[in-house]
Amino acid sequence: MTLTLTTAGESHGPALVAIVTGLPAGLVLERTAIENDLRRRQQGYGRSPRQQIETDEIEVLAGLRHGRTLGTPLALVVLNRDHKNWTWGMSPWPPEGGPEGKGKEPVTLPRPGHADLAGVMKYDLSDVRDALERASARHTAAVVAAGAVAKGLLAEIGVRVESSVVTDDLEKRIDEARAERDTVGGVVEVRATGVPPGLGSYATKEERLDARLAWALMGTQAVKGVEIGDGFGLAALRGSEAHDEILRDEGGYRRETNRAGGIEAGVSNGEEIVVRAAMKPLPTLMKPLRSADLETGEPAQALVERSDVAAVEALAVVAEACVAFELARAAKEKFGGDALVDFMAAWQAYVERIPWSAR
Ligand SMILES: Cc1cc2nc3c(=O)[nH]c(=O)nc-3n(C[C@H](O)[C@H](O)[C@H](O)COP(=O)(O)O)c2cc1C
Repeated sequence: MTLTLTTAGESHGPALVAIVTGLPAGLVLERTAIENDLRRRQQGYGRSPRQQIETDEIEVLAGLRHGRTLGTPLALVVLNRDHKNWTWGMSPWPPEGGPEGKGKEPVTLPRPGHADLAGVMKYDLSDVRDALERASARHTAAVVAAGAVAKGLLAEIGVRVESSVVTDDLEKRIDEARAERDTVGGVVEVRATGVPPGLGSYATKEERLDARLAWALMGTQAVKGVEIGDGFGLAALRGSEAHDEILRDEGGYRRETNRAGGIEAGVSNGEEIVVRAAMKPLPTLMKPLRSADLETGEPAQALVERSDVAAVEALAVVAEACVAFELARAAKEKFGGDALVDFMAAWQAYVERIPWSAR
């Protein structure tokens, strides 16, 4: 069974939910590891005050007993503490009394670059809030929780996933943008070490590891570009400059360069996996762009609501979670196992068979 992740939850609804299926039984999960990643997602230069009012914590509703997975669907919940200010506005059932609190006025001023206009047309909505609440990147808290679980599984086979921001001078760019009531984006990088050759496959598009990583990252809010290894830069090189020569020593096969970012033909090649994602500037602007009122059709300025100036550091944590989940999914497909011991035994036998040493 492969790993799957299903998430549910609105930005100011009661909670976010992540359901992970396909985990082997017997995997020890650390609550602090999951909450540490949730906290990392909330931090970073340029985030809005919401991150201070909410310290995300995890509740586990199913699939775990005494800290060990049961091999059954794992259900994780992250409560939205801010929901207390939105109990009328985001009530799942027709609210009694009111209107009161946040979300009581319908939003009719769609923001360029957000889900607002496409969402109301697609789903036949009259209040943009019905679209933006799910489109919002608050949802990435559920992704990060699932990614932390995936990292736990990967750690068992010596795979480590880390992320960083690669855009220079980000704090300065953020300060300048904030002063001008604007927003910025940036580029993040995820690296995974210890990945054995053979995750993913060239057999079908669906199995290609590069395609799966690109899908996972592109499926994240505000990501507009993904590159594997030297990516776009490779297009300007000659073949003799672009490919990583194959060397063999007592440790097995290895490369001196890693322009392919650890993936050839959709399959991990035993080198470090290197993936980058480009984030666009956030669309909610304190100095809004031109828009049109949905009720009157008249020209208007787009919605202004509390928002980040930048969330690039947060995206790095989310991207790390996305890459971890895809690598764990590919590893689970390759090594199988209902129980962790079986997964580990298959991995052990495989890495003993192939001429490769971890890096
Ligand atoms: C971690 C993270 C935080 C974000 N925070 C904000 C925000 O505060 N304000 C905003 O307008 N967009 C924010 N976004 C981006 C929007 O969610 C995104 O641009 C929007 O959903 C439209 O989707 P698209 O950019 O993929 O087209 C954030 C994205 C991420 C990944």
